[in-house]
Amino acid sequence: MSGALTRSEPLSRAYDRWAETYDEEYAERPETATEDALVVSWLRDRLPAGASLIDAGCGTGWLLDRIEWPRALYYGFDISTGMLDRAREKHPGYAFGQQSVVDQWPGYPHDWRTGTPRVALAMWMVLNHLDPEELLLTLGRFASSEGDRLLAVLRMPAAPELAAPGGHDDLAPYVWNHSLDDIETSSEIVGLRVVDHFGFLYGGRTVPVKDAHYLALEIAR
Ligand SMILES: C[S@@+](CC[C@H](N)C(=O)[O-])C[C@H]1O[C@@H](n2cnc3c(N)ncnc32)[C@H](O)[C@@H]1O
Repeated sequence: MSGALTRSEPLSRAYDRWAETYDEEYAERPETATEDALVVSWLRDRLPAGASLIDAGCGTGWLLDRIEWPRALYYGFDISTGMLDRAREKHPGYAFGQQSVVDQWPGYPHDWRTGTPRVALAMWMVLNHLDPEELLLTLGRFASSEGDRLLAVLRMPAAPELAAPGGHDDLAPYVWNHSLDDIETSSEIVGLRVVDHFGFLYGGRTVPVKDAHYLALEIAR
């Protein structure tokens, strides 16, 4: 899927600039392994075998790098062609498309809906130009019927990364400044609800959500 990324164009260019070094930068962070282990184990408990996964803001393929999933049941999309090139290189045969949560809805490959239930994932995705209702409404449509859900890891406002996500200050204007209360309220407005969450700090220590740098969320209808 490709086409005009109207509202997401400047952000997609910022991610294109990051794509080449993204994996190495993360791999080199001492806290990455601990954070990953925590999130991957949380995800594994919530990904039913046979579910279709839609990986919103798939980046360079973080999810497939860590969790094996059948090709026919995976679709990853991202606004950045640079990020998508890396993902395709590492995961040949998997379906990826250039698409924005904001600008290019709807856009599944036609066979994506074969699996059931459906799980939409938004892992460490910088969600820009969005108000919380718009985001949740759009992502909620990816997981649109009973049994489907949305799993996400988001940055919390306390994170030092707000000023320069991943050390990239060109991304700072795009970080969505939210709280769990905002997300819960917005979810209700669009007919979804937060069914599970936990907060953790850089380095993977779990803490009360109010002290967290990251928030892991499960949202369902
Ligand atoms: C911090 S990276 C996370 C990538 C990957 N999920 C991971 O965990 O490594 C955020 C990704 O979201 C993508 N992104 C940001 N806004 C988006 C949007 N509106 N629609 C689709 N992708 C978006 C970026 O291009 C980038 O690849």
